[in-house]
Amino acid sequence: MDTAAPLRRDVRLLGTMLGQVLVMRQADFQKWATGSSTAAQGGGAAAGKALFTNNGCASCHTFAPAGATGKVGPDLDKLAAYAKQANKPLEAFVRESIQDPSAYIQPGYPNVMASFNSLPAQQIDQLVAFLTKGSS
Ligand code: HEC
Repeated sequence: MDTAAPLRRDVRLLGTMLGQVLVMRQADFQKWATGSSTAAQGGGAAAGKALFTNNGCASCHTFAPAGATGKVGPDLDKLAAYAKQANKPLEAFVRESIQDPSAYIQPGYPNVMASFNSLPAQQIDQLVAFLTKGSS
């Protein structure tokens, strides 16, 4: 007679339940990371929205796709025009502005933005994707 059989079944059941909890967690995380329940948008732009909010960009910048109305820095809905004014390709301009904001100071604005160069490269990519997609 195998007295350990019920125990083994319990352990298996526990394992299954744990797996379900982990799957749920991942779905929640995805929802959080993309800022919506439609994780199907995929791409960096959706994750960029959460990064924009979480890094405090919204407190200084107006940017409609993020629902941001900050007034310290330039209106990021006009990024395409600013890039043209700086004579730089939009994506390169935005990337530089995040990694090294002092490299180009938007006329009429103070040089008060801190560098976000310490963010992981992937997060910078996602921010750039979000900002360039929203300002075309
Ligand atoms: C303390 C306020 C502040 C915060 C926080 C801030 N910025 Fe800025 N930002 C500014 C100011 C002021 C400028 C204009 C001066 C300059 O060009 O560096 C600027 C410039 C920029 C520019 C270039 C716009 C242009 O026309 O030159 C981009 C892009 C930008 N910020 C994105 C971001 C992103 C993305 C974040 C968050 C990761 C962020 N900013 C956080 C104040 C801020």
